[in-house]
Amino acid sequence: MGKFVKEILDKEEFSREDIISLLESEGEDRTLLFTKSSEIKEKYIGNKVWYRGLIEFANVCGKDCLYCGIRKGNRNLERYNLTDDEILAAARFAHANNYGSIALQSGELESPFVTDRIGNLLHRIKEMSNGELGITLSVGEQEPEVYKSWFDAGAHRYLLRIESTNRLLYSKIHPDNSNHSFDRRMSCLKNLQDIGYQTGTGVMIGLPFQTLNDLAGDLLFMKEFNIDMCGMGPYIEHADTPLIEYSESLMPLKERFDLTLKMIALIRIMMKDINIVAATALQAIDPIGREKAVRIGANIVMPNITPGKYRDSYKLYDNKPCTDDSAEDCQGCLEARMSLADAEVVYGEWGDSKHYSERRDKNTKNTENYKQ
Ligand code: 5AD
Ligand code: FES
Repeated sequence: MGKFVKEILDKEEFSREDIISLLESEGEDRTLLFTKSSEIKEKYIGNKVWYRGLIEFANVCGKDCLYCGIRKGNRNLERYNLTDDEILAAARFAHANNYGSIALQSGELESPFVTDRIGNLLHRIKEMSNGELGITLSVGEQEPEVYKSWFDAGAHRYLLRIESTNRLLYSKIHPDNSNHSFDRRMSCLKNLQDIGYQTGTGVMIGLPFQTLNDLAGDLLFMKEFNIDMCGMGPYIEHADTPLIEYSESLMPLKERFDLTLKMIALIRIMMKDINIVAATALQAIDPIGREKAVRIGANIVMPNITPGKYRDSYKLYDNKPCTDDSAEDCQGCLEARMSLADAEVVYGEWGDSKHYSERRDKNTKNTENYKQ
């Protein structure tokens, strides 16, 4: 077995079968996989981590994804929407603490009000930070003009997880209606990339009905689509969602966790210079889950800087960590955690994906001086 995995790891490109073998690897083979991915991270990125201060500014959502705790149909939670001043205060905290970037995340809503509100916030955050804070948006599917207006207002990265690239599996974990269309989600991703965003996507790992073949397809898609950023995390059931009825069929949490680490290691090997997030959901399973992800390939961590009183209500899944903490608590805690992973936190830099700058230079030969 050892020799077989070693041979695969020496290849330039992985086939679907290669990926499945690596996802199945155990013992020494698994160690070989993680050693290879750590080496690649070290070589292409260095042993570094960049922060994106995460502001979960509203848990109001227009969609009803069957796995998600903040789905519209869940009446068992209080809905909140931070005021603009609260959002600006959180952004100011990030700036004052020299985080290079923030990420604005919320449930998915499409309306002229939301479009204007976010556009306005982007302007104000840029102004408040003298253009120094990088801004990632993660507010779901929108029309191309909306994406464009936000890009022009200063957002330069966008995260939109495809959740699963197998359209049949996608249809099993979403309601069957036009508000949850696989094709629309794909075209949104394409639009984001065409507009010029650093574009990130990802999937959940360990979903009901999901196979290793599906996960291999997800990785091949990310490579083919040429993403700049990847955020993948384990699926964790939420008691107030329809998918809870399939809990018995799931693999144990520890296995979902391990499979997520293997997926992260694989995407690092396949796409050496992209940004990879160590998802918070990892820490819901293993207290040092994010540190493990950083060791084997992730280079982005998203400290939660949402005001403490709202955190309990942004529960996408059960056992979400750090919901009792404040932004200051997360700050000290994370820095200590990253040094446990022997990683150095880089302050005051956007930490753009190198992949993006190279892709952009190749495409446009644009010499505009971006802050990396
Ligand atoms: N378990 C893990 N991740 C989840 N998400 C939503 N619900 C869950 C869950 N139950 C993820 C989705 C979404 C992101 C914001 O959170 O991938 O895109
Ligand atoms: Fe809110 Fe899916 S339920 S995005």
